[in-house]
Order: sequence, then structure tokens, then C-alpha cells
Amino acid sequence: MIEADLAVVDAAELVTVAGPAPRVGAALRDIGIIERGCVAARDGRVVFVGDERAYRNQVRLTRRGTELDATGRTVLPGFVDPHTHLPFAGSRDDEFLRRLRGESYESIAAGGGGILSTVEATRRASIEELVDLGKRRLDRMILHGTTTVEAKSGYGLRLDDELKQLRTLQRLQDLHPIDIVPTFLGAHVVPREMRHDRPGYVREVIERMIPEIAREGLARFCDVFVEEGAFTPEEGERILSAAAAHGLGARLHADQRRDSGGASLAARLGASSADHLDHVTNEGIRVLRDGGTVAVLLPGASFFLRDRHEAPARAIIEAGVPVALGTDFNPGTCPTEAMTAILPLAVLRLGMEPAEAIAAATLNAAHSLGISARVGSLEVGKEADLQVLDIPNHRHLVYHFGVNHCRTVVKQGRVVVEDGVLSPIEP
Ligand code: NIG
Ligand code: FE
Repeated sequence: MIEADLAVVDAAELVTVAGPAPRVGAALRDIGIIERGCVAARDGRVVFVGDERAYRNQVRLTRRGTELDATGRTVLPGFVDPHTHLPFAGSRDDEFLRRLRGESYESIAAGGGGILSTVEATRRASIEELVDLGKRRLDRMILHGTTTVEAKSGYGLRLDDELKQLRTLQRLQDLHPIDIVPTFLGAHVVPREMRHDRPGYVREVIERMIPEIAREGLARFCDVFVEEGAFTPEEGERILSAAAAHGLGARLHADQRRDSGGASLAARLGASSADHLDHVTNEGIRVLRDGGTVAVLLPGASFFLRDRHEAPARAIIEAGVPVALGTDFNPGTCPTEAMTAILPLAVLRLGMEPAEAIAAATLNAAHSLGISARVGSLEVGKEADLQVLDIPNHRHLVYHFGVNHCRTVVKQGRVVVEDGVLSPIEP
């Protein structure tokens, strides 16, 4: 008999997403559904996945063990959100209104708003304020089924404030059950005080920020916003090469507003991910496939910017490039913490199938962060990160959109959301 201390039993659909990572091409929609499915865990790890009969024959609960009945419900792996700008202060709802009245994201940014206005607010905030804001955002994420999140700095744009953002993430990791993968995005834009000295800012990122952040172990990845008005591919290459020399993996904001050569750069550097890709070319898609880089699509950003142009998701999938989905949670282009807001956009605007969107939001997202051996699917030996949704099958996640179906969340074998309510967090 297999001993378990937690079991979720009799799900109408247990969506395991079991199998090789990353999931590409036609296999992206193969999400390993088990009807009347059960999953059991011990000491935070999955020890059994199978149907009701096998469960009854093979699994015994320990004396203190808990069995959660998922009859009529759907169980999924916890979402892995591979792209957020979590630690920031302030709001840009005023700019949102200006955009609704006809101004563009770019013209607002050129006038000193946009990213730079969030930089001002974030520089003014104390680390305690950022931790408090971050905690409330992580709470909203976990209530919507996210159990692992990547989080970028990039609203400090000078050493002390970038460190403040990354230390905020470190503190949040100690007080919240969500796993946080930190990314240094010092090259988000050139800060106002250095607008006449771009080379000087790039040097600052390379010579001071990256070494210090690496020395303190504050980031696992480095990201660069390669775009007109931000950084050129050449600058991106120098920054990401310096980061690699300090042991940081590479991610890129690539081809978001126009084809900026971002996909080719990502592939050339062997980056873990190229993100956005709304304007990626066929050539860009081809090199991404050859480079093994994950395409992290962020349809919430183009939706929120009212950009009719979308990432060519079908062409990317059919070319065999691994596709992941993320929120891009940030105050300017996508202020939602919920992956459940993104999946319907991926399906209805990018043309992905619900099953493809689920694999992209779990296993492939984990792969882009280098952690798919540990999270992203429900398989024996992996961490028991899962969500129980009050829906009869996985399609309802996007079909019955705009409401939160997530009732229970388990993180590393511990029930952290019960009946849609966050459990008090033990230190
Ligand atoms: O991913 N593209 C650059 N960065 C963010 C937007 C940041 C902001 O507007 O504050 C993005 O869309
Ligand atoms: Fe982003």
C-alpha cells in the first residue's frame, strides 16, 4: 500500500498534464485527463495518480491524513505564471482613462508617464509598503489557482531601488506559500536622470547592478525589454551575456509592439524564454524552434492595450515552438493577477484550444523557468501543487469565463485555499 497524508478523490476530470516537458506541436493538447481521477501526496510530493479503483486498491491514508472529495469537479495542476512585474507601487488608472480617450501607450510614455511614472512611485515606496502590496497580490493569485510565479524588478532603475524590489521578493518568499522565481529587469527603460547617457546606464546595469544582484543571489534570471524606446538588440545582447557570465538565465521582452529582432536575439543567446512576440516574424519563429526557447505569450497585454494585432499562436505551435502563457501582471499593460483572465484570451483571441492553454499555463510555463522536473504537472515525485475547480470538465475554465471557479488550492501538499477562502498563513 502507498501511504498518503493528503488525497483529492473522485474528480470528474483529473487533468495531470503528465508527460514530457516542454509540450510541443500536437502534443500540446494532450493533457492527460483521468476520469474519476484521484491524486495523493505525502510530505508535499505526489505519491499516487490514478482512477478511483486503483486509488482504493493502492492508497492508504495516514492517521492524520485528509481526503478531499472532488466529485463532479475538475482538478488541475496549480498555474505557473512565468511573467509578472509583481513588485511595484502606485496605479496607472489615470493613464488608462487617457488611453480610452484616444492617447496611445507610446505617447503617454514619451510624455514621461508609462513605466517611468511607476518608477517614481516605486522609488518612493518603502520595502515594507512593497511587501504589503506584494502579499495582497500573491493572495489574489493563489485564490485564482496560481502556485508558482516569476516576478521581475525593473521599476527601480538604479541599484538601491532594484535591490529593494528584489529584496521585497525575497521577503515575500518567506511569508507566502506561492513559489517566487525572481528576475532582474534593470534594462526595462533608461531612467529619466540618465536619458542623455544611454551607454552610461547600460554600463551601470552591466558593471554594478548585475554583479551585486548575482553576489547576493537575488535573481535567477535577467530580462531585457528589447523595443524601440527601450533597448536595442545589441544592448540586450551585451546585458544578457554579462548576466550569463554571472550565472543568470536569460528572458526577453521580444517583438511586443513591433518586430524588433527580439526573437532572433533570444534564440541566439539560448534564452529560456522570449515573451510577448505579438509581432514575431516567420523567421523569428523558425529560429526560436531551433534555439529551444519557450514562447511566453501574454494576450492580456495586447487586450488591455486594445491592440488588434495578436501573437501568431497557431503558427508558433505548428512550428513546434513550446508555448507558455502568463499574465504579464503590471500596472501599465495588464493589471490582473489572474491566470484565469488570460486563458480565455488565449483561446478566443489567439485561437488556442482550452487543453493547449492549460498545458501552456502549467507544464510549459514551468519549463520556461527551468523547474518542470518539480512543478507544472501532477506526476509521482513532483510537488503536490494543485487546484480543485467547481466545473465538470476543463473546457468550462474558458467556456464559463469571468468567474473564479477555484475552490481549493494545495501547495506542496498543504491546503492553502479552502472553499475559496485563503487559510491563515503559518510562519
Ligand atoms: O510587459 N513591455 C514592457 N514592460 C511591461 C509594461 C510595463 C509598464 O507599462 O509598466 C510589459 O508590457
Ligand atoms: Fe512584461
